[in-house]
This record gives sequence, C-alpha cells and structure tokens, in this order.
Amino acid sequence: MAEIELRKLRKSYGAFEAIPPLDLMIEDGEFCIFVGPSGCGKSTLLRTIAGLEDVTAGEIRIDGTDVSQRHPGERGAAMVFQNYALYPHMTVRQNMGYALKLAKKPKAEIEETVERAARTLGLEELLDRKPSQLSGGQRQRVAIGRAIVRDPKVFLFDEPLSNLDAELRTRMRLELADLHRSLGVTMVYVTHDQVEAMTLADRIVVLRGGRIEQVGSPLELYDNPANLFVARFIGSPSMNFFRATADGNAIAITELPGLILPRPDFVPEGWSGLVGVRPEHFVINAAGGTEVRLRAVEHLGGVTYGYATLSAGTGICVDLEGRREPGAGDTIALSIPPECAFFFDERTEIRLR
Ligand SMILES: Nc1ncnc2c1ncn2[C@@H]1O[C@H](COP(=O)(O)OP(=O)(O)O)[C@@H](O)[C@H]1O
Ligand SMILES: [Mg+2]
Repeated sequence: MAEIELRKLRKSYGAFEAIPPLDLMIEDGEFCIFVGPSGCGKSTLLRTIAGLEDVTAGEIRIDGTDVSQRHPGERGAAMVFQNYALYPHMTVRQNMGYALKLAKKPKAEIEETVERAARTLGLEELLDRKPSQLSGGQRQRVAIGRAIVRDPKVFLFDEPLSNLDAELRTRMRLELADLHRSLGVTMVYVTHDQVEAMTLADRIVVLRGGRIEQVGSPLELYDNPANLFVARFIGSPSMNFFRATADGNAIAITELPGLILPRPDFVPEGWSGLVGVRPEHFVINAAGGTEVRLRAVEHLGGVTYGYATLSAGTGICVDLEGRREPGAGDTIALSIPPECAFFFDERTEIRLR
C-alpha cells in the first residue's frame, strides 16, 4: 500500500515539453485514472512514474520516498501494458513466475505465489498453456498475474483493455474493479476511454497537453466540469453546446428560437458564449418548448437517443428516455430547465458559475 506524490514533475523530449511541471497526490489505495485525448501525455506520465522514462525535473515520491532516480524494478511499482508483453515461448506459469525467478526466489515459493495469483485471476486451468493458446482476455489476465506475483505497492496500467472486444472489455472492467477491492492497492490507470474512467476510477485526472485540466471523482467531473474541455470530454454521449447571448435578464439560444433561459447572477449583462446541456436534461414536449426535427433515432433497448441538426449546423443529442416514439423525421419540442444549463466563455473556455 502506498501513496504517490508528484512534485513539480517535468518531462521533456529534447526541446519538446511533454509534461510541464505538474503536482499531483494519489492517495494510498486509490484507483486513479488519467484520461485525455491521444498525445496528451498519459503514457509519458505513467512511464515516468514506472521509471521507464527518466524525469527531466521534479520528484516522484512513492510511500514518502523519492524514487525518481531509482531503477524501475526498485520502485515497488508493477506495470501492465496494452499489448500484454508476454514471452511467447514460455507457459503461463513461467511467464507469471519469471520476475521471481530473476529475483532468485526459491522454487517452492515461486510455485506457491504463482498458484495463488492464478486462483485470484481464475487462471488455474491454464497454467501450462502458451500465450498463443489463450484468448485476448486470458492473456490480459496473465499480464496482470505477472504484476501480482511481485506484490507491488502500486499497479500501473497503460490502456490494458483497448485490444479487447467490447463484451470482454466490460467483463475485464468488472474484474479490475474486484481486483482493486480485494488487493486494496494503489492503482494508476491510463485510458482514452472515458466510460472506463467513469466506471473504474475513484478519481479521474483529465489531461491536456501534459497539463491537468481537472481532478475529481467521476460524478464531480460530470456534474461540475471546470471548463469547456472537461465538459466536452466527460460524458457519453457528450454534452450539447449552443451559441447564446444575454439580453437584459434573459439568455437567448440563437439556434433554438423562442427558448429563453433566465440570466443567472454570475453571467454578466451583454454576455455571449456557449450554453451546455446534457442529453438527459432536456425536457421533451412540455408546453412552450422549441420545436426540433429529429434526423435520426437510436433505440439501444432501454435507452433511446434522438439526433437533430439545427439551423446553423449544430448537431445535438437528446435522451428520449426510452420512448418508442417519435422516430426519424418527427418533431419534438425541447425545453431546458434553468438549473441544468452550463455557461462557458468561448475564448477562455472557463465555466461561469
Ligand atoms: N520518445 C519520445 N520522443 C519524443 N516525443 C515523444 C516520445 N514519447 C512521446 N512523445 C510525445 O509526447 C506527447 C505525449 O505522448 P504520450 O504520453 O504517448 O500520449 P498519450 O499516451 O496521452 O497518447 C506526444 O506529443 C508524443 O508525440
Ligand atoms: Mg498512450
């Protein structure tokens, strides 16, 4: 068990600064997830913690000790990779025991540790197979098993599920949540999939250009995004945005004529910017709503989404709350409950509140 503290951690590749000085505290036992678009520095940050990249400046403290100059094997952290990185010529048993063999542990101890890890992961029947005789999900479990046998204080995962199909991803997600609960160790996990982040994380760190945009629990980020970037990134389907202007004490949404919101105190007079609304927050077909024609309707079974394109080309998504009607081509009336509207400055991307 260990906390991880990053102090003014910086990472450059030559003249390119991938991570500008960054401070972050990851609590003991926390499941902490780094998210952000491709190239935002998630892997760089994780690999720097693991010791697979050297730090340009700053400190990485694990359990109170600065490990930034230590060899990867001496940090108490174990990394699980997206491509599993298993040895193809070794059996599952040999793959899982390899780190212990290198550490010159007694044979009986290796055997026992590997079998215990195999039981935790449901791999007992597969110990004598080679990686080529396993499914993607089983390989991923072996890769995790290889980390478990080292009894690390910290697990580091770099997009461990992105090579799996959708069904397996869901199952492995639940297994990782169980594993975190049963081991009680600190886990740092990188993904570009915000559904994974929302379902697994105690806390999410949203990164852009190597900088932290916001840190918080999944629902804190969903309910209280600090800025336009986080509001866009968290939530699936994502938040809808509309150009709007304040006129006196009213806010008019340009592309939804007739839809007027009261101007909150924190929105200045004469303001213009973006109003954000989550798909599930529209009120449908109430008196006084603004009419919109649906371009497409997606029935996912329990959930139904309607899509429309507004006059200036803005695409919107509306949660139709499981309705079987309307269909594509039909018209619905939309209103926005004032307390559900978010307000953003378009230039600075800051959220007004
Ligand atoms: N070895 C390297 N040399 C130079 N630039 C790199 C290297 N590794 C990563 N980068 C750059 O650092 C940035 C962050 O990359 P990365 O951490 O892999 O992003 P992510 O994992 O979020 O997709 C990218 O702009 C990438 O091109
Ligand atoms: Mg990456």
